[in-house]
Parts: sequence; C-alpha cells; structure tokens
Amino acid sequence: MTAEQFIIDDRENNLFRVNREAFTSEEVLQRERKEIFDKTWLYVGHESEIPGKNDFQTRDVGGRPVIFNRDRHGDVRVLLNTCLHRGSSVCRHSSGNAKIFTCFYHGWAYRNSGELVNVPGNEDYKSEPAAVYKGLQSPAQVDSYRGLYFVNFDPDAPDLLTFLGEARYFIDLAADQSPEGVAILEGTHKYSLKANWKLLVENSIDGYHAKSVHHTYFEMMMELGATPPMLGKETVNGVAPAGMGTEFPNGHATLMYPANGLPLATDSVKQTLANLRAQAEQTFGENYATAMFGLARNSVFFPSLILIDLSFGLTLRTFYPVSPSETLVTGWQIIPKGVDEEFVKYRINNALTFWGPAGLATPDDVEALEQAQKGFGARGEVGWSDVSKGMGKPVPAANDELQMRSWWREWNRRITGQQLPTEGTSFVPFDKQDVDA
Ligand code: FES
Ligand SMILES: [Fe+2]
Repeated sequence: MTAEQFIIDDRENNLFRVNREAFTSEEVLQRERKEIFDKTWLYVGHESEIPGKNDFQTRDVGGRPVIFNRDRHGDVRVLLNTCLHRGSSVCRHSSGNAKIFTCFYHGWAYRNSGELVNVPGNEDYKSEPAAVYKGLQSPAQVDSYRGLYFVNFDPDAPDLLTFLGEARYFIDLAADQSPEGVAILEGTHKYSLKANWKLLVENSIDGYHAKSVHHTYFEMMMELGATPPMLGKETVNGVAPAGMGTEFPNGHATLMYPANGLPLATDSVKQTLANLRAQAEQTFGENYATAMFGLARNSVFFPSLILIDLSFGLTLRTFYPVSPSETLVTGWQIIPKGVDEEFVKYRINNALTFWGPAGLATPDDVEALEQAQKGFGARGEVGWSDVSKGMGKPVPAANDELQMRSWWREWNRRITGQQLPTEGTSFVPFDKQDVDA
C-alpha cells in the first residue's frame, strides 16, 4: 500500500492524525472495497419503503445493484439485480410493484422471490437453465433492526445485532418516536460530491464545523429568537449545553447536545411534538422521552450509515465511493407515523431548506469537503490531517472529535489489522442513568 501508516494515535500527547493518502489512494479504495464494503453490514432500505406485497425499490449497495422488495407472500427480500444469463439488470426501474422481473435483454423472467420461471427458447437447451441456475442470488446475509434492512456479503461476518451492539440505542431513539412507528417520506435526495467518502463520514458527525460552515443557519436562528445548537444554557438529561461525544465498539459513534429551538414551527407542529413526547413518556419513562425529543443526535453506524435527528427533521443517509475523490450519497427523511399533514409539511420544508440541494446545510458541507479534497493535492508536503480535538477530556463535547477517532480506529483495524485501544468513554443509556432531566 502507498502509505506505511495511516493513523498516528499518540495517547501521551493526545494527538491523533490521519494520513492524507487514505483519502486519495486508489489502492486504499480497493482495500476498502474488500475489507470494509464486502464484509460489514450495509444499509439497504426501510420497510416502510416497500409497504405492500410485490413492492420494490432498486438500490446500489456496496457496489452491487440490488432489488429490495416484498415477494407475493409479503416477505422482504434483497435480490442481486443481475440476470443469470448474461448479466443485464432484471429490473430497471427505481421503484414500483411487480410480481415478475423480466430481463429486457433476452427475456428471462424471475418471480419476485427469485426463482427463474421463464426462459424464451427453453427447448433449445439440453440442460434447462431453471434447473441449472435456480434463481436470482441474494447477499450472503440479510437482516433487519427496527425496520431498517441491512445486507452483508460476507457469510462469516458476525450477525447484525452483535455488530450494531449498544449503538442500537440510537436507532431505537428514532424508531420509538411514535407508537405506530416511523416511516420514510417518499422522495430521495441523491447527490454526489467530488471528495473522498470518509470526509463525509467525518462531516456527518462533526460538531466543530457547525458555527463556521453553517453560520448563515446560526444567524437565521438568532434572528428568529431561537438558540443555535450548542449555545444554550440548559443541561438536558445530564448532557451539558456543549453536548457530548460517544464511541461504541465496531466504529459506531454519536454526538449529541440539547436540542435547539424549532425554527418556524407553528403551534400545531409544537403541539404534535408535545403529544408524541407525552406518549413516549408514558411508555418509556421521562429520561428516554427526553433523549428522543430533547437532544439532537448525529450517529454513524460503521461504515457509512448516518442518522441525524435535529428535532426539526430526522434524516438518514448512506453513501458509497465511486473513486477516491468521488462519493455518491442517498438521503431520506424519516417521520413519526400518525402525524397530521401540517407536521409532515413542516418536516418536508425543513428537509428541503436545511439538507436539500439549495438548503442551508448540505451545499456548504459539500463545498467544505471538496475544498479539503483539493487540499490533499499538497499531501507530499502536508501529509497528515488532525483529528485531536477533545482528546484526553473525560467527557468530550459534541464539537470535539472523539466520534471520528472511534470511527477511524475501526477503519484502521480493518485496513491494516492494527487494533488501537478505545478512549474508554463508555455510554450508559439515559433510561438506565441516574440523571436529573
Ligand atoms: S441477459 Fe438477461 S436474458 Fe439475457
Ligand atoms: Fe454540516
């Protein structure tokens, strides 16, 4: 590999550095495909995106085209979208409802549970293709947690629940927001950036950049009389105004801080949230309900599933590298089920004006990451990036960088085999903590 060492994890001086080759090298990318994307649990989709029998969505997951669907019995499947004949996609639509997928090249047809059921000119084959090839393949492992479906292309990888471990708590905090569960809003935000995918991992759990990159948002908040993120005075569930970062095994990490006000929320939207919170309090207790509705949270589930709950919107995104300097991103919005139209509209508005293509957040983030990627051109002279902020603090704040170091250590373990110790800040779920809300 190009570089000999990718991480400098200097505990004595509390310095953490990442070799910039990690962001630019084609060899590193090949290794990531093999050691990360071929072996970890990768997010495919949410069950609410295929509510009915025969519904499907097509996706690219870990570099493979897949069909995420329900078969005619309603069972969820993930099928590799490649014809057993000569490779063509058997489904070319992004979503829909189909009992049969017919390959447009020579017409081989597959039931939506995978079986090959029709081969034009079948009589010309001595060995019948359906008997030889059976049906469309699935990834080695498919599993779900709270409605989120994942695949793993490695048959020997530990199961999904073990992999997610304690970090599952942050999926629960999203999934429990309504007694009826949550759903993905129809519509996808797809974009690409000319930057390495790991820059977007860092950015998605980076509280440090908020004030500088998103100052327009901060100014807007203040003009509306709302308190910008991390600048409040109140402690929520024991989490100080500056927030906190957490690390979990397997490279998952979260940052959280007391949720800021709800810009532009109408009384009815506030009432809906209050109702959801009251219901949650009854079911789960006060601390858990406060964690759900009173704390903003950015989580990364290794390698590239991001869940961000900023109270005014709950976004899910995942991404995959096309090249060392290009990344394809897909984002969705999640809403609690059973809310009224005004609430849904509020969430859609916020999704568009904050995370959307002309929003206050995403375009600025993309600009910052593309600038960083450009900067790596000088890696011959300036070879290392710094990720040390907050290192050595007993409780790193939300705008410190523990989250990224945790992720990087797992990346490093998978790429180089070198296991670096955690920083040892263990997180106790709020409902199990003795805290004053
Ligand atoms: S490639 Fe699909 S039928 Fe030939
Ligand atoms: Fe940002």
